[in-house]
Amino acid sequence: VRTPVAKLLLFGATGDLAQRMLLPSLYGLHADGLLPEGLTITGTARSEHSDASYRKFAKAALDEFLPADRKDEKAAKSFLERLQYQSLDATDLTHYQQLAEKVGDVSGGLAIFLSTAPSLFEAVIRGLDSAGLAGATVRIGLEKPLGYDLASSREINDTVASAFSEDRTFRIDHYLGKETVQNILALRFGNSFFEPVWNARGIDNIQITISETVGLEERAAYYDGAGALRDMVANHMLQLLALIAMEPPARFDGTAIRDEKAKVFRSLRTIEPADAPLMSVTGQYAAGASGGEIVKGYIDELGKPSTTETFVAIKAHVDNWRWQGVPFYLRTGKRMTTRRSEIAIQFKPVPHSMFSNRGGLLQPNVLVIRLQPEEYVQMLMMAKEPGLDRDGIRLREVPLNLSLDAEFAGKPRRIAYERLLLDLIEGDQTLFVRRDEVEAQWMWIDAIRAGWVANDMKPKNYASGSWGPSAAIALTERDGVTWQDD
Ligand code: BG6
Repeated sequence: VRTPVAKLLLFGATGDLAQRMLLPSLYGLHADGLLPEGLTITGTARSEHSDASYRKFAKAALDEFLPADRKDEKAAKSFLERLQYQSLDATDLTHYQQLAEKVGDVSGGLAIFLSTAPSLFEAVIRGLDSAGLAGATVRIGLEKPLGYDLASSREINDTVASAFSEDRTFRIDHYLGKETVQNILALRFGNSFFEPVWNARGIDNIQITISETVGLEERAAYYDGAGALRDMVANHMLQLLALIAMEPPARFDGTAIRDEKAKVFRSLRTIEPADAPLMSVTGQYAAGASGGEIVKGYIDELGKPSTTETFVAIKAHVDNWRWQGVPFYLRTGKRMTTRRSEIAIQFKPVPHSMFSNRGGLLQPNVLVIRLQPEEYVQMLMMAKEPGLDRDGIRLREVPLNLSLDAEFAGKPRRIAYERLLLDLIEGDQTLFVRRDEVEAQWMWIDAIRAGWVANDMKPKNYASGSWGPSAAIALTERDGVTWQDD
């Protein structure tokens, strides 16, 4: 049951995420009439602002970050009327009382969106609790990073749990808000013909790639302490893996979906320290050309020596009946050749080929789910090439194409945060990450990191604009598998 709240409280209201994503998303919901009538939005951050100057600030963000086809001055004006602002020193307990006064009566429900440095977490939760902003009608949305390993994530989860029960805690993984990510569920469970081959008998291997062309950007303070394994694998990539690997849930709801995902995380085979060099590759970008420009290497960009990995590739296994023996190859990196999020599912070859090799080798089928920047599903198949060859028919691999971009061209493109903010406001946890999921994810990640330390594995350099270190190619080639790079 969806139960909308009457108020929203946005921490980090002047930050980068708020400008780029949160304010445009809230505006989008408002413009489409999806926000509860009368819902007020209180922004808070350290900076000083009056309500009026914060509205100006928000308007500037909308002007800069809304796509042209979403801009509407009238809708913007009425949206801004929902906004008010209270400055806050998050470490000062007395400030929360003022904040509570500004927010006002929360008996009609309050949703809090918290995107703040992990070091402030405890203070914020205590502050909210002491000012009566953590009661039964209040739910809280939490942005990452929620810890950097299992122990710190448990600590954060315990702190949150001291004030908010799990059914009022909404952990964000923005990948789950993406339409194409939800489409994985539609493909798998809205069609009957995948399921019979969706297992170790039908599938040879699964590859998940999230490659980016951006580098450090302005995030050195966070990123250099995190690295690709924590920044991308511990959350987004494992969530994608779970959606691909999970058993069919009985219902599309928070309990059923998250139960099945959690089972996948608990079935991930621990990568023992001794196996880390064989099962994982780390890299750090050197100078090169990426995204059409000449770029510096990571160390130069950072301005100091660092062994933080900006690339990681892992061979994972899900130890259950369905996936026995099927490798899941994961790779992600910054400053790579192209921006792409994609899942490639390579099926088993046909058991026997009746065609002569002269007609070309049979390629196993591949299902490619491209999540971004384009949105499509492609099945690579063998087909007869037209021709009158006398020595048998000639085959070629051709794509069976479903362009979601083209098929749904008339529909507005949504930011992932529109879905997530709406669900937070209305109280639907399906697309949020449950505590047991997060902890199982960290447990698996921590073992990998321990293996890197035990083996003194340092990231290998790769040229910006490449597909990562050559060792990442060897990771699959050893198994006779080639990355789906087109
Ligand atoms: C974030 C990471 O969670 O996801 C970033 O912290 C990364 O480092 C981003 O760039 C990628 O998200 P998207 O939606 O651009 O694929």
